Amino acid sequence: MPHSNCKSMAAGLLITAALFLTGCQALNPEPETSLYQQLGEREGIADVVEDLLYLIVEDERINHQFKGMDVAQFHRNLTDQLCELSGGPCTYTGRKMRELHADMAITNTQFNALAENLILAMEDNDIPTGAQNRLIKQLLPLYPDIRNL
Ligand code: HEM
Repeated sequence: MPHSNCKSMAAGLLITAALFLTGCQALNPEPETSLYQQLGEREGIADVVEDLLYLIVEDERINHQFKGMDVAQFHRNLTDQLCELSGGPCTYTGRKMRELHADMAITNTQFNALAENLILAMEDNDIPTGAQNRLIKQLLPLYPDIRNL
């Protein structure tokens, strides 16, 4: 086969591959709704955090840790943090996670208890399971900075 034929065949293959890939992307588009939207934007997240606060107060595994905290500040900062982590237009302005939780001797069980309550709060607000899991996944990298026992 002449050299130039080979070249045009290769180019043809590339174009076919490109068309194929574009076609695949059209069949499997990125999720239309961002995690932030699935959580109901900042207002929806604020509702979840409010319910989380009620669940924390009732949870004997962790409520003693939260005695005396500034509830309004906690609500605002955690809402901003979850908003930012889910891709929303918010900026968390609170203290660093490690600094905040350093003296709390937080155990694995307590960390999991908080995550469990967050899931329950999302459940109460009809957040789809996929979105719940995606938010928890965003929180996992914070684990080494929060858990310290
Ligand atoms: C995914 C896990 C967690 C996240 C994302 C998280 C996030 C936060 C954020 C954003 C704040 C700042 C709120 C403020 O400025 O007042 C905060 C404060 C606090 N967190 Fe966590 N936290 C987590 C786990 C825990 C656990 C497991 C405990 C204890 C059992 C805990 C206890 C506290 C307490 C007591 C404060 C208030 C500190 C203060 O007012 O000085 N956190 N947390």
